[in-house]
Amino acid sequence: MKKNKPSSTALFVSNGLWWVANHPGLSIEIPERMRTLNHEMMKYLNLGIFSTQNRFGRCLLKFKTSLMQKFAIPGFYLHFALRKRCIDDHVGTAIREGAEQIIVIGSGFDTLSLRISQDFPNLKIIEIDHPATQKPKSKAIYRFDEAFKNLHLLPHDFTECSIHELLLQSEHYDSSKSSVFVAEGLLMYLDEKEVRGILDGIRLHSSSDSRFIFTYMEVFNEGGANSNVLHP
Ligand SMILES: C[S@@+](CC[C@H](N)C(=O)[O-])C[C@H]1O[C@@H](n2cnc3c(N)ncnc32)[C@H](O)[C@@H]1O
Repeated sequence: MKKNKPSSTALFVSNGLWWVANHPGLSIEIPERMRTLNHEMMKYLNLGIFSTQNRFGRCLLKFKTSLMQKFAIPGFYLHFALRKRCIDDHVGTAIREGAEQIIVIGSGFDTLSLRISQDFPNLKIIEIDHPATQKPKSKAIYRFDEAFKNLHLLPHDFTECSIHELLLQSEHYDSSKSSVFVAEGLLMYLDEKEVRGILDGIRLHSSSDSRFIFTYMEVFNEGGANSNVLHP
């Protein structure tokens, strides 16, 4: 990602979720709370002609997102919605089984931490993301009607230092607490050393019953040297 620009792929994912939430046949796949918080977030991220605050902007955004999906991977947006629900389920199970701390890494404009922050006010929730992406998100959250008192945002670039250095310096992280780390749609943007840094950091600096929930992409060679295809 570019150093000073918010992640365009994070916006792509959140716009994709917005597209599914507004699709007459697919909207049923998005739980109500996920939908309302995503719509709220979209208000502050899509500006100018793509503003979701007026009908013209919504039509243009629908058109743009439809085209992007067609030329990226058809069905990708529904995949985002379903993977988010799957992650919600795993996080919910971990909380029921005693997790006390949730750390969402490379969170983009996702709303998982906002939802759990309100449902579980006694949990500690930390979001870690690149400073250029976290800045507009924190500005957006500040304008929401609701407050997220147990959510702490930590800006961090994984190409500069490792996650454990960041967490161990943070007053909000407690390495003795049972934790859930979530990395959705992040690992494919990092090189092997950076990914190993995250895995080692979690292994060495979290309690032994902690969990790591992540998504990744596999490279398939589908016919020829120059035709690698990424599959979620
Ligand atoms: C495809 S987005 C995924 C966003 C979110 N997890 C989701 O699935 O909706 C990738 C995320 O990784 C973050 N990211 C990419 N490279 C990073 C880096 N070097 N340091 C920190 N975050 C990074 C971006 O800021 C962005 O939020």
